[in-house]
Amino acid sequence: MRVFVTGATGYVGTAVVDALQRASHEVVALVRHQEKARRLAERGIDAAVGTLGNPNTWRTQASTCEGFIHAAFEPSPKGVEIERIALDTLIDLAKHAGERGPASLIYTSGVWVLGSTPEPVDETATVAPPELVAWRPAHEQLVLDAGTDQLRAAVIRPGVVYGGSRGIIADLLASAENGLMRIVGTGENHWPLVYDRDLADLYVRVLGSDEGRGIFHATDEADEQVRAIADAIAAHRPHPPDIRFMPIAEARAKSGPYADALALDQRVRSPRAHALGWAPSLRSVSSNIARLFEELRRGRLAQQEQERHDA
Ligand SMILES: NC(=O)c1ccc[n+]([C@@H]2O[C@H](COP(=O)([O-])OP(=O)(O)OC[C@H]3O[C@@H](n4cnc5c(N)ncnc54)[C@H](OP(=O)(O)O)[C@@H]3O)[C@@H](O)[C@H]2O)c1
Repeated sequence: MRVFVTGATGYVGTAVVDALQRASHEVVALVRHQEKARRLAERGIDAAVGTLGNPNTWRTQASTCEGFIHAAFEPSPKGVEIERIALDTLIDLAKHAGERGPASLIYTSGVWVLGSTPEPVDETATVAPPELVAWRPAHEQLVLDAGTDQLRAAVIRPGVVYGGSRGIIADLLASAENGLMRIVGTGENHWPLVYDRDLADLYVRVLGSDEGRGIFHATDEADEQVRAIADAIAAHRPHPPDIRFMPIAEARAKSGPYADALALDQRVRSPRAHALGWAPSLRSVSSNIARLFEELRRGRLAQQEQERHDA
């Protein structure tokens, strides 16, 4: 399938593009800068240089595709509005593709839309999003409503992603190296998590399956306590870092509604993903700390290498 991917240079999108290439799909990536287009071209990936909020910059190239994966997000005050503009265009393009033949549209959401779920929930759960992602269920619904017999419309809700050198867990590993880890709240809450390559594998499965419709959770189902993750990371360091548990009010004053999302207590199951044959290869952060430090190190080296190459 020829697949248009937004956010192709991001944490989730990079893993998705790699997995699509491994599965022999053709990728057309939306990138913001010519330099990134050049890097992707070296890997045989076509790029549209443009921005989410200006679909005229990518509509023509995206219209050559039958698959559409939205994995971009602009973290700015206009981010939600910009996503809506991009989604309207992606839905329109996907519907046209669906009129020509089988097509697929995948929207990247996140488990935070579920709100606090101290007891395990699956994809049938009612959403109760915290302020940070209060807008998101409406965008999920726009995508789901676009589905037809020919157009498979899906929402993937990843847990907190780990692996490589980006994301919340990589930041925790890096802060452990620097001697101080900060945890929002008491750390007794549980985070649903997913390894980046396992998550990307789910996108490929959803894209390629006639059952790839509706909501899919993507979690390793380890129900890890945040405190246990921090302890496992700290235990791995020759000089264990301090772990500081920040009261939620203090974290909120510093980071706004992001603090409440980090403090959520969630246990999330992914039965619909398993029904597609998806089985995560990594089953927890805590039991893979050595590997994750190594991935962080390699990711940094690759980035330094890229910067030298670009200079
Ligand atoms: N990371 C996680 O743990 C996690 C968990 C659950 C859900 N999610 C969701 O997954 C999505 C992607 O997250 P991520 O962690 O991969 O984020 P990320 O690493 O920050 O990547 C964001 C991507 O969006 C692109 N982008 C931002 N603004 C853009 C614009 N105006 N026009 C075109 N492209 C733009 C970025 O391009 P540049 O490279 O040019 O900056 C980058 O490719 C988000 O919706 C996030 O909420 C993430």
